[in-house]
Amino acid sequence: MRIYNFSAGPSMLPLSVLERAAAEMTDYNGSGMSVMEMSHRSPVYQAIIDKAEADLRKLMNIPENYKVLFLQGGATTQFSAVPLNLMNKNRKADYIVSGQFSKKAADEAAKFGEVNIPASSKDRNFAYIPHVTEFSPDADYVHICWNNTIFGTTYNYTPATGDIPLVADMSSGILSRPVDVSKYGVIYAGAQKNMGPAGMTLVIIREDLIGNAREGTPVMLDYKVQAENGSMYNTPPTYAIYIAGLVYEWLLQTGGLEERERINMQKAALLYDYLDSSKLFRPTADRECRSLMNVCFVTGDPEKDKAFCSAAAKAGFVNLKGHRSVGGMRASIYNAMPAEGVEKLVEFMKAYEKENG
Ligand SMILES: Cc1ncc(COP(=O)(O)O)c(C=O)c1O
Repeated sequence: MRIYNFSAGPSMLPLSVLERAAAEMTDYNGSGMSVMEMSHRSPVYQAIIDKAEADLRKLMNIPENYKVLFLQGGATTQFSAVPLNLMNKNRKADYIVSGQFSKKAADEAAKFGEVNIPASSKDRNFAYIPHVTEFSPDADYVHICWNNTIFGTTYNYTPATGDIPLVADMSSGILSRPVDVSKYGVIYAGAQKNMGPAGMTLVIIREDLIGNAREGTPVMLDYKVQAENGSMYNTPPTYAIYIAGLVYEWLLQTGGLEERERINMQKAALLYDYLDSSKLFRPTADRECRSLMNVCFVTGDPEKDKAFCSAAAKAGFVNLKGHRSVGGMRASIYNAMPAEGVEKLVEFMKAYEKENG
């Protein structure tokens, strides 16, 4: 039996993807072996990674002058790779701090150069996204965290950085709605929320930003080495890339990212509309920057939050406990969470409020 899993990541995958992977588990496409058992240098595997890239390019409408890399190390490794590769002209970068992960990214970059923080939303426990219009003119790049997994906020504008490359950690928002890739220098994302299993990290990078890694950059973190070797300088996360490829195919078959955005807006509205009208629960993120993917809410009383999470788990809605820095609850409703899961959760919450409100 499948239950409704609201985990922030690793998180739900589309059932049809899991079923297909199960069917292909021991014999992929007549090869007589599992994708896990294949040489990454074999033609059969090359076809898998090529298709994954082609489908992703189609889905996100990635311009020709961008490279797609399938790497390892999680988004956290990109916190180091980005400054090592990009913070090299003036050794300066701007980091907008809108939550815990952007703070971590900024702290890591500060090991490699001067980090300026044009704005932070720490003053209200990251309940909003700062609207920034001015950047250091000599910054090598501007870094944002596009969707804040812990605080349930998301950018509803693209910072206009002019000629300064914009770098975005899209770990928890990627593929949830269309983005104009050409506005970014680098987009990166761990796979384990909206793309596949943990173990694969996607990097989309504009070609002119490749080839500038500073001396001493570890070979695995050098975008040029990874780009020149088609993400295969060493053994890539083969199985995770295969599953991500199945997810990209599923997204294309179900209408692409415009359709996904429509569905995600409906799903999120169901939950936010109820939260706005509830007397027991209250959403924590400011209305204009509420995330479609991570919906954070509280009762205002940690004991009541705990009681709700445990009652919800008993009813089949699991992993609703919020991150310790916000408390309360967080319902992560990534692409693979069916609308029915959100509808049932809202029904449950309404009934719970009637009894316990
Ligand atoms: C926005 C964001 N950035 C970075 C990370 C860290 O990712 P990883 O565990 O892949 O290093 C996470 C993980 O939850 C995240 O949500």
